Amino acid sequence: MSLDAVLARIDTDLPAATDRLIELLRIPSISTDPAFKAECDRAADWLVTDLQSLGVTVEKRPTPGHPMVVGHVDGPGPHILFYGHYDVQPVDPLELWDRDPFDPAIEETAKGKVIRGRGSSDDKGQLMTFIEACRAWKAEYGTLPCKITFFLEGEEESGSPSLVPFMKENAEELKADLALICDTGLFQSKAPAIMTMLRGLLGEEITITGPDKDLHSGMYGGVAMNPARVLTRILGGLFDDHGVIQVPEFYDGVPVLTEELKAQWEGLGFDYDAFLQDVGLSIPAGEDSVTPLEMIWARPTAEINGIWGGYTGDGFKTVLPSKAHAKVSFRLVGTQDPQAIRKNFRAWVEAQLPADCKIAWTDHSCSPASQMSTEHPAFEAARMALSDEWPDPAAYAGCGGSIPIAGYFKTILGMDAMLVGWGKDDDQIHSPNEKYDLESFHKGIRSWARILAAMSA
Ligand code: BES
Ligand code: ZN
Repeated sequence: MSLDAVLARIDTDLPAATDRLIELLRIPSISTDPAFKAECDRAADWLVTDLQSLGVTVEKRPTPGHPMVVGHVDGPGPHILFYGHYDVQPVDPLELWDRDPFDPAIEETAKGKVIRGRGSSDDKGQLMTFIEACRAWKAEYGTLPCKITFFLEGEEESGSPSLVPFMKENAEELKADLALICDTGLFQSKAPAIMTMLRGLLGEEITITGPDKDLHSGMYGGVAMNPARVLTRILGGLFDDHGVIQVPEFYDGVPVLTEELKAQWEGLGFDYDAFLQDVGLSIPAGEDSVTPLEMIWARPTAEINGIWGGYTGDGFKTVLPSKAHAKVSFRLVGTQDPQAIRKNFRAWVEAQLPADCKIAWTDHSCSPASQMSTEHPAFEAARMALSDEWPDPAAYAGCGGSIPIAGYFKTILGMDAMLVGWGKDDDQIHSPNEKYDLESFHKGIRSWARILAAMSA
């Protein structure tokens, strides 16, 4: 079988593939917002129909949250499982978008053509690169190069709450020789990267209540405790002056990097200045003694993702609010235990609470960091295949983001997972005006065709 014929078909089919992606991007499958439940369902249905057209036996499978799409198709090569997610992040602040986030289009930019819309990069565009590679293969040869299980999730962006039970209940069905995950990016927006470690994530929501109703700040200010003052004082103490997180036992399980790994990362030539300059900054904000690449890939963080309370509308209102809120998340590395950190963080906050304020907690994401083994022979095969498609050779890299399933393939199903993707740093994932370069989409499809060919050989 000739790979060239498949690659040529991918090239000719690119406009039709782009149209299909645009159709999927029109479905506002925001998993975290219950108002979009039916839309998540519709995105799952769309994928079921699309996979059926490739001869995949596929179903939408219910969970207590959004459905999983699971499909199987036979083929000659090894048995691989492909994972991607069809849910997307919320779009707010909507006023910062230059177009309707769910009315995607191809745009010409200074850096080339892009597909603009929520989910174009994270992760609908990426998951479609794999499906399109399969479509081209099937069109050329009538079959796929490998036996493939498709596993598409609709809750990744909300911390994958149904994932672990689903994987445990369907373990026999989901087991394969290797998992492929397409939900990460290129290294420095140009070199293909196989991610070897991902951070975990713990999400916490805090509500502090002071007075039992909103008050006039002239009548009560100074006497009644303001919960926003309590919240900001506590969160203001999350870091010391050297960027070290103050929650007790927080650093338990954070590994010391080997000199070998540090040297390998140093050799990647990451451009720290450009990385911050691209977002209008110049001074790294993390721990004093750590390089920026280590901060992103190998050190834990605490971030305030949202903080509100009182009057935040236009104009001004002299209110002393009854409640103040924050959403705080921690990125975790090594063997840091998200449950233990949840417990220690809550105790640390509550110990600083004035006696007549109340606190309420809401749990969000809770997944440990994951470390990928690269010993499976498919890793070297994929690295070679990727280096044939891209001008720069493929690198083993870390990833600051979190993909809860990445570690569960090993811990629940006993299989290795390989993470590759084509996103660029300026894709604005999770932000207004998300885009996916047409180059990422096109070369991503071609890359998967090459990887599949290498794996089936
Ligand atoms: N695709 C991202 C993960 C990612 C982020 C990869 C940045 C490469 C670079 C994924 O969809 C994501 O955003 N995950 C969430 C997970 C969370 C909600 C559990 C994240 O990292 O915040
Ligand atoms: Zn994603």
